[in-house]
Amino acid sequence: MDSAQDGPDAETVLQHLLRRHSIGPRQLSAPGPTRGELRLAARAAMRAPDHKRLSPVRLVEIPDARRAELAALFEDFARRSGRSAVEAKEEAARAWNGPALVALAARIDAEAGVPPHEQWIAVGGALANFMNALHLLGYGAKMLSGRKAADPRITAALCEPGETLVGWIAIGTPTAAAKARGEDDPDRILRSWARS
Ligand SMILES: Cc1cc2nc3c(=O)[nH]c(=O)nc-3n(C[C@H](O)[C@H](O)[C@H](O)COP(=O)(O)O)c2cc1C
Repeated sequence: MDSAQDGPDAETVLQHLLRRHSIGPRQLSAPGPTRGELRLAARAAMRAPDHKRLSPVRLVEIPDARRAELAALFEDFARRSGRSAVEAKEEAARAWNGPALVALAARIDAEAGVPPHEQWIAVGGALANFMNALHLLGYGAKMLSGRKAADPRITAALCEPGETLVGWIAIGTPTAAAKARGEDDPDRILRSWARS
């Protein structure tokens, strides 16, 4: 795309983006995104502002064949945290959240010459672009974390050394429309640097 004039109908795209809301795993059914659609959404994630192009975000697709392993890790975490057997089984069941499940990790490099908060902003921007791309492709999704995301055993299983596990994005086809919410008021975040 060479200029703004070549862009798609901005109003249509924006109105659609303004209807993105997180949709929890209980309201997600098959099909999930194809491998090609996930790659496209990952490309959108890579278009987020990223100082020095450090690419601090990692998206780890959990194949169905490994969900049982993830469930065992979740159950083990719950038991180590002192939860009951029933609660541990409930935690394990979260490994089957969504027809597609993608772990989100960050690689924050203290020596990169970019302050950590700027790298975290790049991770957040990547998440937002990823979620928006999935929404434009017709999928619902929700980012979920919880205390288990900070568990060293779960982190070691899903991440490379030096990466921080943020959580999991459950993705699928929405079975219900996102709950209608009031319009966001841009004046809550947008202001002029006016003289007082
Ligand atoms: C990094 C991160 C972790 C989150 N973890 C949880 C979580 O564990 N449980 C939860 O209910 N919402 C969690 N959320 C919030 C939801 O993903 C979602 O953003 C929130 O419900 C607002 O919905 P919306 O995206 O439609 O505005 C998390 C969001 C982020 C960015």
